Amino acid sequence: MPDWCRRGETFHRALRHRQRDSLQIGYERYLKHGQAFKMRNYIEELPPQVYLPLKYLDEVKSAPQGKLSFPYFSRCQRYWLTAKTLGAAELSRNDEWLGITIGVTQTSMAAAHALRASWPWWTRWLARYVFPPVKKVLADRARAAEILRPILEERLLAQNQLFYAMAAIHSSTAILLSILYDLIDERHEHAKADLVGEIEQVHKEFGSWSRQAASKLVKLDSFMKESQRIHYVGHARVTRAAQVPFTFNDGLHLPKGTMIQLLHSGFQQDPDFFEDPETFDPWRFLEKRQEGDPNRFQFASLSEAETTFGAGFHACPKRNYATDIIKLVLVHLLTNYDIKYDSDTQRRPPQMAHDSATLPSLATSILYREKVSRVQSSKSV
Ligand code: HEM
Repeated sequence: MPDWCRRGETFHRALRHRQRDSLQIGYERYLKHGQAFKMRNYIEELPPQVYLPLKYLDEVKSAPQGKLSFPYFSRCQRYWLTAKTLGAAELSRNDEWLGITIGVTQTSMAAAHALRASWPWWTRWLARYVFPPVKKVLADRARAAEILRPILEERLLAQNQLFYAMAAIHSSTAILLSILYDLIDERHEHAKADLVGEIEQVHKEFGSWSRQAASKLVKLDSFMKESQRIHYVGHARVTRAAQVPFTFNDGLHLPKGTMIQLLHSGFQQDPDFFEDPETFDPWRFLEKRQEGDPNRFQFASLSEAETTFGAGFHACPKRNYATDIIKLVLVHLLTNYDIKYDSDTQRRPPQMAHDSATLPSLATSILYREKVSRVQSSKSV
């Protein structure tokens, strides 16, 4: 049991309720000082997950897929799921499958005994072609693979589809909701007014919402990025698993199967990375763009301290698309609706924590009312 579990508290309960605190401790104690730390996996059957400090990012990014793999990381989780669910109902009613699985121990042991008893070692390579007990074991294995293939393919297809759905839907909607919570927070009333002004101005200039028009919403981009800096969705990014034993240049060794990740949430609040990190400064990233490179510090940018969309070869291929979608939904909401919390307080609710996820509260009601100007213009059409 990790030391951050209180007396009598289960690992899962502690993980659900205090993961944020424990990861922050891990960041301060280890990652900030260039040391990795490992934590028990929330899928308890799997090996511990290792959080790496940023100094390993370049090596992780450039490690070949055959060594540190992104798909293998999710496959590790899927194998566990498959193993759990492969008590497949369809197989339990297949007599042929049952016959093979019940008989496999006996046929293979019998073949091995007979082979050792009557075949000198240097002739055994021939047995697979001519010796009936060995041919029976191989035939059963091939038949078992045939029976399993369609079931596994169907599941893999479904899992791949579900992976894409997970990658696309929940990340975008959770981040969108989280940003909306900040937009309607009374503490950002002035920033919201500025954003409405920016939207009107860009719309006047372009007449419609193209990708180019969306890229001109630089204040909105900055607000979104600051909102995600403070109210990030999910702690971990750049998740990979070691397909083979892997050793970093400084000697840190990962045994085969180790699941690694960066603690994305750690450096978002670190004064070494962000001045006055506790303060929500809506134009923080806009100022950085104006002072330095206008093409950096955007919502979809990738860099050492910008891992919302991952890093390297597997960085989210749809990050610009996702950014545009989020912007356009916010433009629609800000242009057409007055929105407020359905409560006395007009401040965003605390983030929810669940296993390794941090999400905006899903139990908060919001009131939408069509803007008077919109109602009047639709009446006059
Ligand atoms: C704000 C919304 C989104 C966020 C924050 C996000 C974030 C991420 C992250 C962190 C990764 C893993 C990168 C890595 O480990 O280096 C990823 C991968 C991926 N994302 Fe997104 N994503 C978002 C939206 C989308 C959307 C809308 C789509 C599809 C339409 C999408 C498709 C993918 C795919 C296919 C991968 C896997 C890439 C690969 O295997 O190389 N994502 N995303």
